Amino acid sequence: MRIDCITLFPEMFEPWLGTSIMRIAREKGLVDVVLVNLRDFAEDRRGTVDDRPFGGGPGMVLKPEPVVRAVESMRAEEREGSETRLILLTPQGEPFNQEVARELATRSRLVLVAGHYEGFDERVRLILRPRELSIGDYVLSGGELPAMVVIEAVVRLIPGVLGDERSAEEESFEAGLDGLLEYPQYTRPREFRGYGVPEVLLKGDHGEIARWRRDQARRRTDERRQDLRPEDL
Ligand code: ADE
Repeated sequence: MRIDCITLFPEMFEPWLGTSIMRIAREKGLVDVVLVNLRDFAEDRRGTVDDRPFGGGPGMVLKPEPVVRAVESMRAEEREGSETRLILLTPQGEPFNQEVARELATRSRLVLVAGHYEGFDERVRLILRPRELSIGDYVLSGGELPAMVVIEAVVRLIPGVLGDERSAEEESFEAGLDGLLEYPQYTRPREFRGYGVPEVLLKGDHGEIARWRRDQARRRTDERRQDLRPEDL
């Protein structure tokens, strides 16, 4: 998969790209992340990308020309048969979740645009028709962290990125658990500060372990996230 990320702050991505899953996925050649500096697409030599809002009001608005030019230059690099998705990060977008991550993981190329300041000139939406994603009902000062959230959630679903393919199946929100929250996990030591490990996990009866985990996942989801509970479970 190739992921292009258009941003005013490419340096925010560097340490994250060199750490943990992102580093492994890149070293294995499973994903290529290309950082594109929006300022390189400014129309003047000073690199102006924002301006005051028409009609007045606080803050600055991202000008349409640099964003549209940057995306068009990415689209010009489109390879034959590649399935590109253009994504704009904004608090007004559709809520991002595991289901959206799974859908994006099937694409061969993603182009993400991280805004900054008070938002994009509306013509960016009208001209580019991006899919707009929000990572939650709160406002950050830019789309960079949301872009990293989306990329990381997608990249870990690419086959071969996680060491054990089952890691991504039996997780919170995934089909292996009917979209429920994950069950409690334990590792050594068997006893810590007076707390032991549930007997069932120590006995090695895989059928019983699977039943216990499913039951725990249901309870946990009932207690914490009624909204995730499927009707028929
Ligand atoms: N940009 C600023 N806040 C955001 C959010 N919550 N989701 C996506 N993009 C954003």
